[in-house]
Amino acid sequence: MITNTEVAKRGNQHPDHIVDFRQENDKMYFTTQNGVILQVTILRDSVVRFRYATEYVFEPDFSYAISEDVNLGYNELTVEEEIPEYVIITSKIKIYINKANLKVQIVDMDDVILTEDELGFHWEENFDFGGNVVKMSKVCHSGESYYGMGDKASHTNLKGKRVNNWVTDSYAYGKDQEPLYKSIPFYIGLKENIAYGIFFDNSFSTYFDFAAEKRNVTSFWADGGEMNYYFFYGPRMQEVVESYTDLTGVPELPPLWALGFHQSKWSYYPEQKVKDIASKFRKLNIPCDAIYLDIDYMDGFRCFTWNKQYFPNPKKMIEEMEDDGFKVITMIDPGIKIDRDYWVYQQAMDNGFFCRRADGPHFKGKVWPGECKFPDFTNPRVREWWADLYKEMIADLGASGVWNDMNEPAVMEVPSKTANLDVRHDYDGHPCSHRKAHNVYGMQMVRATYEGVKKFMFPRRPFVLTRAAYAGTQRYCATWTGDNVATWEHLWIANVQMQRLCMSGYSFAGSDIGGFAEQPNGELFARWMQLAVFHPFCRVHSSGDHGDQEPWSFGDEITNIVREFIELRYQLMPYLYTMFYNYIKEGFPMLQSLVFYDQEDYQTHFRTDEFIFGKQMLVCPVQEPNAQGRRMYFPKGKWYNYWTDELVEGGVERWVSAEIHRIPLFVKEGGMIPKYPVQQYVGEKEIEKLAIDVYFKEGTERSEVYEDQQEGYDYKKGRYSLRRFKLTGKENELIIQQFKDGNFITPYNKFKMTFHGLPFTIETVELDNEEVDLNDIKLNGNNSIEVGKDFTELHIFGK
Ligand code: NOJ
Repeated sequence: MITNTEVAKRGNQHPDHIVDFRQENDKMYFTTQNGVILQVTILRDSVVRFRYATEYVFEPDFSYAISEDVNLGYNELTVEEEIPEYVIITSKIKIYINKANLKVQIVDMDDVILTEDELGFHWEENFDFGGNVVKMSKVCHSGESYYGMGDKASHTNLKGKRVNNWVTDSYAYGKDQEPLYKSIPFYIGLKENIAYGIFFDNSFSTYFDFAAEKRNVTSFWADGGEMNYYFFYGPRMQEVVESYTDLTGVPELPPLWALGFHQSKWSYYPEQKVKDIASKFRKLNIPCDAIYLDIDYMDGFRCFTWNKQYFPNPKKMIEEMEDDGFKVITMIDPGIKIDRDYWVYQQAMDNGFFCRRADGPHFKGKVWPGECKFPDFTNPRVREWWADLYKEMIADLGASGVWNDMNEPAVMEVPSKTANLDVRHDYDGHPCSHRKAHNVYGMQMVRATYEGVKKFMFPRRPFVLTRAAYAGTQRYCATWTGDNVATWEHLWIANVQMQRLCMSGYSFAGSDIGGFAEQPNGELFARWMQLAVFHPFCRVHSSGDHGDQEPWSFGDEITNIVREFIELRYQLMPYLYTMFYNYIKEGFPMLQSLVFYDQEDYQTHFRTDEFIFGKQMLVCPVQEPNAQGRRMYFPKGKWYNYWTDELVEGGVERWVSAEIHRIPLFVKEGGMIPKYPVQQYVGEKEIEKLAIDVYFKEGTERSEVYEDQQEGYDYKKGRYSLRRFKLTGKENELIIQQFKDGNFITPYNKFKMTFHGLPFTIETVELDNEEVDLNDIKLNGNNSIEVGKDFTELHIFGK
């Protein structure tokens, strides 16, 4: 008999030789002499799943990450048995499985190695908890780079780093600090300009070592569960990210106002304070769509209650806010105060909804209200109950959205900052301990919140925000990056975190603008705002301990700068909404690091600061005090300076001036940028014309604008308007072709096109082959024209 101590001493175990192979449609099983089974599933020609069992037994196949809408289907699948290995062939890749040791090598059709096992799968029995610590190691080739991984506050290229995914309340975290609030165990590898991806779908604490410990090894492992990973072949990074996003899902379109500017603080109360903040926005003409209520609106921090002294009539207040164009978003935390007289507590007790410790008692932990118990959101019955708790908040009182905070779950005054590891969870009928459920706890909470808010908002669209997340959480809600700090370093962190999240399938993300902890000075606040108006989720939030952090808190000069940038965001609303549409339609990330834009340019592999906003704008924040500008790298193509129209040729690093009222901002040559007029809130004005900034290019470029009712679900039935433009510029000509899709009638009838960089004077204009009188359409000399929105071809001749 083998004793436990002997098992512990055995250390790593490895698969030995293959003794059996069988195939069932898209699945192949390779069994080794010592009881390891490798299951290979072909999802698509470029997406393959690898699962390993030890002792011949797989765990039940269940994941919270995978979307129900994932696209499946491949063109080709053959398996050949050769002397040293089996070869699985799809139309895009070949997978070699070594008969002697089960090691895997994946190559493309040109036999270029994409990834290959170093030790490959190995494991260590877990003496304390049972099961295995499951491990995978792969060769890291020289020149290989790594991206992705969710919210890591590290250089965009993770080579040389080790990271840990264990969702953690990380107040005032620092650069390179691990772990943070989210677990998104997905990375993109870039080797010899070919991109591939790996998603390790395991909800235990996971670790990734990107050639940190050993120069030529990249490995990942988990404290328990299965070695279960997906491989995505590019060869372009875009294809990898799109495949990962397709697998783990996308959200529905948010209400358009959710893309507006939001103002928050811990906390705005009482009611009069909330109203004062709101009216100050209107008085100063600073656009804003939403105000947040942090925990102090509650009665003794009891979720789903109101402090009647501060908020005597929330329904009336919310109505009045709504009349002035403001949405109200309320916070809900997972910890439920232990209080026999509190109805939420009673209901959860009566129904057995709270988590229990291994031996039976309820799990208790301290949060804002004192001792709390925690619903087990991994139980579908609990989620249903939780969703229904939102009826009063949403349907009766009229709040427009909810933010779920502390859902790691965060627990105070304990070193682990979270629940005890022996806490039990249902895990949708796969009972387990907190070791396995921890990383998905917040995700399942916000999923329930989303279901509830969606139900009670109907037919309007829900807005939900989360702090904790596991891969796939993007299907339900937006996210923010938690408790950052008002420092220049954190401005840098916010920039890389947002690029990283977008490239990890989670586009609807933002930081606490200006920093949550401590107090920014006006310059830092302005620089942060200049960056954050280009982040998908745009909200100021602060702890409130050190003073105010509203757009007007830093004197007139800063107020004016901040106003100008918030206005710019509202002008860019149709562009931003189109970005969102592309994200949910194709999985195309709303922001992209330069390496995503041009992976063939080696310079881009190490850039952190510049990013592409949507498909046609290049942004580079100023991240230092007292700067008059900065050096930045321009990727391939030609770029118009947004402020001066100066054209810059890509492939070089250059100095760009950007005094305190400017951020380096560029538009891709040929781009057509749609704009709305400045509004104080989304829907304030009827859009009479769609402004389009047209940036001349000799050659062709495609642009698009997606629009719909900005609310509701009619867009799913075809009531949307998608205009695709093809711009072709020649020496003395500019042709714009329009292709329309969808049957939503946009409220405006005209485009106002403003030309940038037009190399000629307009002589004649033809709309669908008919010449139009220049007096009817020309404005501002040569700079702009106004034309009906329905043309198929606009042809401008010049000299
Ligand atoms: C922690 C959150 O991260 C922060 O945004 C919030 O203000 C506080 N909790 C208080 O609710």
